[in-house]
This record gives sequence, C-alpha cells and structure tokens, in this order.
Amino acid sequence: MIVAVNESGGSIKTTTVSALAAAAAEAGLQTLALEADSQRDLSHIMGCDDPDADENIATLWDVVDGIATLDEAVIPARRGEGGPAIPNLWLIPGSRNLKDLDEKLIGTMMRELWLRKMMPLLRGRFDVIFIDCPGDLKLTTKGALLAGDEVMACVKSQEKEARALTELELTLAAINEAFGELGISLQVDWVVIGEAVSDKSQGKVYEDAESQLREAYGDLVVRPSVRRSTKVAEAYSAQMPLLLWAPNSEPAKEYRAVAAAMGLTKPAAVFTP
Ligand SMILES: Nc1ncnc2c1ncn2[C@@H]1O[C@H](COP(=O)(O)OP(=O)(O)OP(=O)(O)O)[C@@H](O)[C@H]1O
Ligand SMILES: [Mg+2]
Repeated sequence: MIVAVNESGGSIKTTTVSALAAAAAEAGLQTLALEADSQRDLSHIMGCDDPDADENIATLWDVVDGIATLDEAVIPARRGEGGPAIPNLWLIPGSRNLKDLDEKLIGTMMRELWLRKMMPLLRGRFDVIFIDCPGDLKLTTKGALLAGDEVMACVKSQEKEARALTELELTLAAINEAFGELGISLQVDWVVIGEAVSDKSQGKVYEDAESQLREAYGDLVVRPSVRRSTKVAEAYSAQMPLLLWAPNSEPAKEYRAVAAAMGLTKPAAVFTP
C-alpha cells in the first residue's frame, strides 16, 4: 500500500495519486484510492464532486462517525460526474467534515491509529491502495501514514517543496519513536517529482532543486519526473484522472513509467496491511 504525502500544500499529491491509481487499474490491478482530505479534490477527479451531498454514498467521515464501515464506503471511480465506472478503480470519498477530525477524536485512546484500526476490512479486496492526504502533517496525515506501509513523497521541483521533505522526515521519526513497539518503522520510500519544467531558460531553478533531491534521496527519486502540462488542469476540470483524459499525453506516459518503476503495474504490488 502507498501513502501519498508531503507537508506543503499544492505539491502534486492528488494529481499523482489519481494518475498512479489509474495506471495500476489500467494494468489490471484492483486499485483503491482513499481520500483523507477535506478538500475532496481526489473525489472530484474520480467522478464524485460533492460526496457529502449524496445520501446514497458513504464518505470517510461517515466511517469515522460509525455510520458506515470502511468497506461499505467503497464506490466505483467514474469517468466524469455520473459517467461510466472506470474498470478496476475504486474510491472511498473524502468529506468536508474531515477538517474537524482532530476535535472529533480528542480524548480517544491512540487516536493516531484511527485509520489503521479499520484497514483490515479492506484486506484481500485490493492489490494496491493509495491514501491521498491533506497538505499538512496533522492528525489526518499521521493516521494515514500509520495506516499505510509505504510513504510516497510528492514534490514539485522547487526548493520550497523539497524543504518540506525535511519536515516529513521529522514526523516519520516521531511516529516511529511513538509507535515502534507496534512494529511501525516508516521511511520515505519514494519521491515523485512533478510539474517539472523542461525548457532550459526558465528551468534552471527547477533543475537545481531536482538534482539536489536526487543527491539527497538517490534511487528513491523515481524516474522519470513528470513534466508540467496543461493537460493536468484539463483533466481536473473534466473530473477524470489524467491517464483517462489524455492517455497519450507526455505526462500520462511519464506517470505510467513512474507506476512501472514503483512496481505498481504488476500483481506483485500486493496490499499487506
Ligand atoms: N504536471 C503538472 N503540470 C501542470 N500542473 C500540475 C501538474 N501536476 C500538478 N499540477 C497542478 O498543481 C496544482 C496542485 O496539484 P495537486 O492538487 O495534485 O496538489 P496537492 O498536493 O494534492 O495539493 P493540496 O495540498 O492542496 O491537496 C493543481 O492545480 C494541479 O493541477
Ligand atoms: Mg490534494
């Protein structure tokens, strides 16, 4: 299982989760994308713009609330709102209420484990699960990190984004210290670079930041980087993962290559909670 995370906001997490999940589904893997962000961008991209408004579906908040179980909240991802289901691709929708999770879980024992406790309900049903986190390292993200087993840091090739990785490392160290007795030992497993600029004249600062990342993280930085493209925003408007909106575009091909490099396109990527 993969967790997508980076402390800074707007760092290509949701774009990357939707693209890699689509690549895994395209390769025939049963793939789940779980949205832990109150912004609901992932749900939007997966064809469900306002999960809170639809009383026929359960959101992750309903699960936290005890109204539904995690497995009951799984719905098909769709090609656009109300469109046909995307084969092999499933969604647990986010909710605007997730912004209140900290308050909701106050006083709960081991509240960082809120999501981990429920993950066994998904065991055996999916080959790979992505969790899309909000752009901070608060309780929701900590819960997602603890529920997953691999950490994928998503960064734009800019210095600010790269610096946020240091914060992530500190959070992982704190989690490992607090929960090491449960056998938890998290590290950054993958660094995916997106929105990279290829044009030399404006690309210098990005390329410098990118080579710094590669220096610091070596082989953990997946190749290729995904280039900047207007197709990403178009796909968002169309409420579709990039790979379905523009399957032959350069960034779609790059995301497919990233998925292959991460072993997400063959059955070995099996979920072990
Ligand atoms: N390859 C790309 N080319 C052009 N724009 C991109 C690319 N990748 C991401 N973007 C844009 O960057 C912005 C942030 O991306 P995204 O929503 O995936 O980030 P995020 O980390 O999920 O943000 P948040 O912290 O708000 O959840 C979006 O407007 C998205 O369309
Ligand atoms: Mg997002």
